[in-house]
Amino acid sequence: MDKKSAVSTIAVLCSGGDSPGMNSAIRAVVRTAVANELTVYGIQKGYQGLLENRISELDASSVGNITQHGGTMLQTSRSPRFETVEGRAEAYENLVSRGIEALVVIGGNGSLNGAYKLHQEHGIAVAGVPGTIDNDVEGTDYTIGFDTAVQTAVEAADKIRDTAHAHTRTFVIEVMGRKSPAIALHVGLCTGAENIVLPMQNEAVDIDQIASDIRRGMERGKESSIIIAAEGEKEGISHQIKQQLRELHGIESRVCILGHIQRGGSPTAYDRFRASQMGFFAVKALIAGERATVAVARKGEILTVPLSECLGKKFFVDPQLLEIVKTLSV
Ligand code: F6P
Repeated sequence: MDKKSAVSTIAVLCSGGDSPGMNSAIRAVVRTAVANELTVYGIQKGYQGLLENRISELDASSVGNITQHGGTMLQTSRSPRFETVEGRAEAYENLVSRGIEALVVIGGNGSLNGAYKLHQEHGIAVAGVPGTIDNDVEGTDYTIGFDTAVQTAVEAADKIRDTAHAHTRTFVIEVMGRKSPAIALHVGLCTGAENIVLPMQNEAVDIDQIASDIRRGMERGKESSIIIAAEGEKEGISHQIKQQLRELHGIESRVCILGHIQRGGSPTAYDRFRASQMGFFAVKALIAGERATVAVARKGEILTVPLSECLGKKFFVDPQLLEIVKTLSV
């Protein structure tokens, strides 16, 4: 236990799309707070819940038996009201009225940006825990939920490969991640996909290349082809690929959009592990008097860095990873 903490009362919320492992992060936040004799509140349903005063005190046993479950015991939301200056002022008042001096926010890019604005406009201490399946928060190598989402998508794609092989078929499998290439790249590599369409290629899919890869594979005796398509921002990419393969190249295919199953399910050990570390570090930073930080993963280590380093989105594609994908998907 720390002798002197900079804060005595904190709150925790989840915001934006849920991700597997958020429960482990909540557990870590609450138990680290309790171990350091802080009062800790849980805010139900994210920033929207904060605006609606859905706030209740938690103790160590409130977060028992949750670490293995997907979703989030605090639930989550996307709140348009909190995106306004007036909304954030209201949210701040609700925190102050309970004597809450600091807020831990578990969420992705929009959620961390919201925390930063709350801090800048009202001076309240905030600590972020990056949680999104998209793994696209700048300043951290890892966001909670990514490993589970990839594992779920890989298991689904393996099942699709069975039926694709049985019918000598081509499948277009669409994965989540919005503009982030991370899920598509990892799933593509791990499932031996013949092609991966990244979000930055969504606008101009090279259908001729995909068709020629499929043909080349079939000539070598391949009995199935899998194209992993990143969802991108606009709906319908997979059906567009299917249609163009048929109309321009006479290749029949089937589409499978994995969708929200990638967000659910029991978190992997890796997600639980990282979430536990990040939740612990976030509270420790508040206790130490840090005012606006995020617990991040860098080169295998967990550390806290200024929140201002984690406000952007990461769309980076490692050229070496691309080379591996290309080399292996002959
Ligand atoms: O940001 C996480 C994410 O799961 C994206 O991969 C996906 O595009 C989006 O959320 C879906 O959001 P919603 O659940 O609001 O449809």
